[in-house]
Amino acid sequence: MSSPVLEAIHKRRSIREYTDHPVENDLLHEIIRAGTWAPSGLNNQPWRFVIITDPQTRHRLAGQTHYGHIVKAAPALIAVYLDQAAIYNEVKDHQAVGACIENMLLATEALGLGAVWLGQILQNKNEVNAILGLAGEYDLMAVLAIGHPAHHDQQSQRKPLADVILKEI
Ligand SMILES: Cc1cc2nc3c(=O)[nH]c(=O)nc-3n(C[C@H](O)[C@H](O)[C@H](O)COP(=O)(O)O)c2cc1C
Repeated sequence: MSSPVLEAIHKRRSIREYTDHPVENDLLHEIIRAGTWAPSGLNNQPWRFVIITDPQTRHRLAGQTHYGHIVKAAPALIAVYLDQAAIYNEVKDHQAVGACIENMLLATEALGLGAVWLGQILQNKNEVNAILGLAGEYDLMAVLAIGHPAHHDQQSQRKPLADVILKEI
């Protein structure tokens, strides 16, 4: 079976090394647009975004995670937030933001860019909000590091279906 969507799903890898090429603003907006077309409960669209390309701000954010080298190397970052004022159901709203982030990663792949979902930085979410000048009602869900891939050598593994399908009834 082949389709552009399946191809993007299977080809997408977490990309942690980038060329020095900046990522055009149009492409960053395209990635966010793809995120906003994710499904959400009641179509409440609880996601919010901050685009960061300013080198000084990236440098400050790099100090908030063990993966600072990735944050520094990426020419663009998108911080993805859950707007707590928009929440109608904790679990479902977090699921919706997860779907949004995956859409963004697939869009990145489709646009020939590379990205990685950074979650470890959530341990310093208050500091990240302070650096970005955001109030506490915005709950950081992830930072995506985005750039033009330096190479395509990334490998990954998945468990076989037999290990994850509990039953076929
Ligand atoms: C919730 C979440 C948090 C993650 N946090 C990090 C992170 O902080 N640093 C990092 O390098 N990769 C992070 N990743 C990327 C995973 O390591 C990666 O998706 C996994 O190893 C599978 O590799 P693949 O994306 O290339 O298929 C995260 C992924 C998810 C979904």
